[in-house]
Amino acid sequence: MLLGAATSAHQVEGKVQNDWTLWENRGKAPPVGEACRSWERMEEDVELLKEIGANFYRFSVEWSRIEPDEGRFNGEAVLRYRRFVDHLLKAGITPMITLHHFTNPIWFYATGGWLREDSPIIFGRYAAFVSSFFPDVPFWITVNEPNVFAYQGYVIGAWPPGKRSITLALKVVKNMLKAHVRAYGEIKRNVKGASVGIAHHMRVFQPVGLLGRIPAFLRDYTFNFLPVYAEVKGRILPPAGFESLGRTGDFIGINYYTKDRVRFSPKDPFGVEVYPEGVWRNSLGWEVYPRGIYETVKRFSFGKPVIITENGIATESHSERVEFVSRHLRWLKRAKGEGINVKGYLYWSLLDNYEWLDGYSAKFGIFTRTREKKGDFNIKELWERA
Ligand code: BGC
Repeated sequence: MLLGAATSAHQVEGKVQNDWTLWENRGKAPPVGEACRSWERMEEDVELLKEIGANFYRFSVEWSRIEPDEGRFNGEAVLRYRRFVDHLLKAGITPMITLHHFTNPIWFYATGGWLREDSPIIFGRYAAFVSSFFPDVPFWITVNEPNVFAYQGYVIGAWPPGKRSITLALKVVKNMLKAHVRAYGEIKRNVKGASVGIAHHMRVFQPVGLLGRIPAFLRDYTFNFLPVYAEVKGRILPPAGFESLGRTGDFIGINYYTKDRVRFSPKDPFGVEVYPEGVWRNSLGWEVYPRGIYETVKRFSFGKPVIITENGIATESHSERVEFVSRHLRWLKRAKGEGINVKGYLYWSLLDNYEWLDGYSAKFGIFTRTREKKGDFNIKELWERA
């Protein structure tokens, strides 16, 4: 079993200049500042991984560093990640590289970003460049959470570029899925035997009342089902369109955090969320529902290997985090016992990193932002005991 933790470049590295930097400068999100200084200190993160008994690490490479201007690639930046990967491999930790984790180079953003017709081609070219440096990295995520990216940036406008249009959001999802297909081909060409997939954010949508089944179904279909179906079956379904893509998922990557309770609303086909008292919640108010990891894995494995590419809790309490992980691992083990090919589990996150609109107030880390230990945590033992 592959066990470890996950991070993303913008959230830990510091000293980045991308579309989020513009967003932060406009006061739309807290400033990322130096983050966890992983750009300088990423080798220290290998020590932390060893300390928690990890044999697997997921991190992202920052596109804006690697392609600072359109079509101009910076080999130095990739070599910095290359040195890091050498370090991981030497420590016996299997790397998983994410090519896109929410942030975009400013030139890409300024010229239309994921609405550009040629965005899949542009992304494919970037994927080809990066993967040529890593013929020994066995696991790749092309894009992280196309559904969350499109929802936040193009439906509710909370993230860059701050648009509010379902039509645009569906176009973005479609372009990201096409970009995934391109990147998939490039990685497979450069890395023999690579396993390539998407990290899908999946939630349990629990209907409240009989009519709640309508919005819960609509959310489940568009948010959970549509992207993973496109990846695995090679077809984009309505309302995103009708399009054949080609089958391009070697494993199913699942980021699982929470359950939403959804009630019917005459004003919105997607309904409204309800928040009953007395349920376990993280410090951001998200309901903790460990059984959901089992339900999700069972529903969306499509007979393929499954990797939990993120699962975590924002909390001030270390013991609550240990409890959270133990409970989720127990349910995951059950799914494995029932025949689902669960290959890996990555805790989000190794460090208390930058949490998008919540800045540094949400503490997901096993270690603090400055790498202090919060308490005993051994992922291997937690899995064995689960
Ligand atoms: C994202 C992470 C984020 C985490 C917690 C995931 O959806 O991939 O970047 O920090 O959730 O909100």
